[in-house]
Amino acid sequence: MATRNSLQKTLGIGLTLGVTLLWLLGVTASGLVAQHEMDEVFDSALEETAQRILPLAVTDILNRENGNGSQRAPALKDHDEYLTYLVRDAQGNLLLRSHDANPEVFGTTPKEGFSSTPTHRLYGVSAVSNTIFLEVAEPLAHRRESALEAGLALLFPLIVLVPVSLMGVWWIVRLSLRRVVDFQRGIESRGAGDLSPVAEDKLPREFQPIAVAVNRLLDRLHRALESERSFTANSAHELRTPLATALAKVQRLKIRISDDQVKKDVTEIEEALRSLSMLSGKLLELAKAEGGGALSQNQHDLVPILAMIASDLEEQAPGRIVTSMPENEVNSFIDPDAFAILVRNLIENALKHGSPNEPVEVSLCEDGRLIVRNGGHTISPEQLKLLRNRFERSNTNTSGSGLGLAIADAIAEGAGMTLYLRSPATGRQDGFEAELVAE
Ligand SMILES: Nc1ncnc2c1ncn2[C@@H]1O[C@H](COP(=O)(O)OP(=O)(O)OP(=O)(O)O)[C@@H](O)[C@H]1O
Ligand SMILES: [Mg+2]
Repeated sequence: MATRNSLQKTLGIGLTLGVTLLWLLGVTASGLVAQHEMDEVFDSALEETAQRILPLAVTDILNRENGNGSQRAPALKDHDEYLTYLVRDAQGNLLLRSHDANPEVFGTTPKEGFSSTPTHRLYGVSAVSNTIFLEVAEPLAHRRESALEAGLALLFPLIVLVPVSLMGVWWIVRLSLRRVVDFQRGIESRGAGDLSPVAEDKLPREFQPIAVAVNRLLDRLHRALESERSFTANSAHELRTPLATALAKVQRLKIRISDDQVKKDVTEIEEALRSLSMLSGKLLELAKAEGGGALSQNQHDLVPILAMIASDLEEQAPGRIVTSMPENEVNSFIDPDAFAILVRNLIENALKHGSPNEPVEVSLCEDGRLIVRNGGHTISPEQLKLLRNRFERSNTNTSGSGLGLAIADAIAEGAGMTLYLRSPATGRQDGFEAELVAE
């Protein structure tokens, strides 16, 4: 799938970006409000200062002995002025100025009320019937600095907010998805044969329908498989006795017949009945293997089981089976009967389908690995993939039903093991190899 995102990542990044954007909007809005309020406070302070200085300045000017003329107000102590002022007449002639005042900051003629220049905020007020004007100037840089500091102070929490929000969202999503992750792991870890219902009660409400649907599906599958299995097992079982009876009767009949042609026909019937009886036996084995029960409660030593099957089959093909088994016990939880069926099918195959002039190597390793290897022609990879399917055969010259490997595979799967099929066999140019490995 092209875009399979983690919910945790998407929510973490999405929510953090959202919170950051909202915070930035909030900062901008509160910055603008703060600036407006600060401007009002600064303006009021400016006005207050002007109103306070005006009477003093007027008295000072009117009390001068030598009439008009610019005068710089003396500074009591050496200091930098933050607010500067000019006192002028209506024509703009300078009467008094604070000691740091720069006349260029003010207009050519005095103005009453508030006004702004690119660098300063001014407030003018008049006295003595609009003949004396006092203007106070305040540098705007100070106001801008205050606004900037307020803005930065509001932005500062973002440095903490972004990582905290990322971690918080990550943690909360992780916490709320924990049950879902458990559910997913539960489904993932169960083997293909485990069709028991999944636990749905611990899931968040939004995910419960999924669990319910999964359980419904598992239940239907379980019932379908069960009915198929019991049908196979029942029919195979029911066929067994009549087939055995028929076979016994045909064999008795064959002894009594002297006519060669009739004897040949009866032998053919006997062969057909024998292969039918073998088929019903294999179908029963397959039904059992697919029905589970390939694991036992306790561990069993596999060495004697393998030795017994090998010596049993040795009678059919003397000298062809070469076994290699460890001195020590090889214990496994695989059910002894199931293991015997599996091994019998693998060795039977090697004897039946492998080259008759070459030995069949059967080795069991200390770690429980079982390898059955034989010579003979190679099988193409495409064919090899299909061989575990029921009734699938690649060599039709030999007799058989095509169920042996399906049985072996079902047992291996039920016991939590893996059956590998290889052709050519390891270390050979030809042949076939089956390897059973505990996972
Ligand atoms: N050891 C082997 N060497 C070569 N070919 C094999 C070997 N084992 C299996 N095969 C091939 O895989 C096919 C399927 O094997 P499988 O055991 O399922 O069926 P079968 O042996 O033909 O019949 P059945 O085991 O039911 O009597 C065989 O027909 C054969 O072509
Ligand atoms: Mg077989």
